[in-house]
Amino acid sequence: MQIIPQYEPDYGEEEKKAVINYLDSGAWLTEFKQTRTFEEMIKQLTGSAYCWIMMNGTVSLTAALYALGFNKPEDEIIVPNFTMVASPNSVLLAGAKPVLVDIDETTLCITPETIEPYLTARTKAVMHVSLNGRSGNMQDMVDFCEKKGLILIEDAAQAFGSFWEGKHLGTFGTIGSFSFSMPKIITTGQGGALISDDAVLMDKVKKIRDFGRSRGGIDEYEMIGFNFKFSDLQAVIGIEQMKKMPIRIKRKREIFKRYQENLANVSSVQWIETNLSDTTPWFIDILVPDRKELADFLKEEGIETRFFYPALHTQAPYNEQYFENQRFLISSKIAARGLWLPSSLKLSFEKIDQICEAIRKFYL
Ligand SMILES: Cc1ncc(COP(=O)(O)O)c(C=O)c1O
Repeated sequence: MQIIPQYEPDYGEEEKKAVINYLDSGAWLTEFKQTRTFEEMIKQLTGSAYCWIMMNGTVSLTAALYALGFNKPEDEIIVPNFTMVASPNSVLLAGAKPVLVDIDETTLCITPETIEPYLTARTKAVMHVSLNGRSGNMQDMVDFCEKKGLILIEDAAQAFGSFWEGKHLGTFGTIGSFSFSMPKIITTGQGGALISDDAVLMDKVKKIRDFGRSRGGIDEYEMIGFNFKFSDLQAVIGIEQMKKMPIRIKRKREIFKRYQENLANVSSVQWIETNLSDTTPWFIDILVPDRKELADFLKEEGIETRFFYPALHTQAPYNEQYFENQRFLISSKIAARGLWLPSSLKLSFEKIDQICEAIRKFYL
């Protein structure tokens, strides 16, 4: 039986040739001109003035917090209780304190209403996460943060190629972060990026990622910095993947639509509201009442799936120190019902139809 994986990478001859040409050029492999080109392409797509690429989306968030000066245990950063664990982990890595808050049921994002009760005199920033490219109302979030005197950081790791009202996600806050890990819309194996229009802040980011110095080869350190740099070997792949962004955005949306249409009359399958003219879903995400049984059934049919992330307050590293005995009703409910279906860019309509047929067989 041919297995349909939940996700697999998508690269081709273009990436292969680019890597060979790069190696043939006798290049140094470390971060240099190819990374700068990759950054220019990200600026062009997002409309952001500055971009720095780093090793991954966890350290890019950490660098953002460090550059903003939120690296002390008394600095509280609001983070959704339902997100990939890297969001709050990056806060801890920076040295600050994540404060977990519940999400809104329609968007799976935090909102001014879910955040408000958890603000204290120590709250410094909101880390908004646009899960699977859905953001909720970003103008409301910007207005709320402005009114409360909070910095808005966007963890847009899952929102590369996604917009809110036509504006790229990651550009609403003071700083936005992306990830290029394997299952993302483009991948360099590992990779992350920060974007911002703030020149001073991004100058700090530039130094933080390079030992605290303003340029390589000069051993003078202006501030505490680390080695969060990228490599040109990965950047040559990133450049080729970036050229495919328009077609990938289109394909991701087509795949989502095909699933939705096929499963429209399966009442047990619940969809999260998705505006496909703005959102580019990274994964096909559904809510079902009996996901274990469905996942087991699909596995028997050779179809791999993956459960949603757990609600973070249930996880060992996030004990009550990081939240105030909340019950997290929505994130708990979503985390218990969510299932990711096969979502690879390579997935043909025939394969999607086969997967949907199996789901229909299970329910109807
Ligand atoms: C919402 C979110 N934030 C942060 C990250 C971390 O990115 P990385 O895996 O590149 O460190 C991810 C990765 O999947 C993510 O989904």
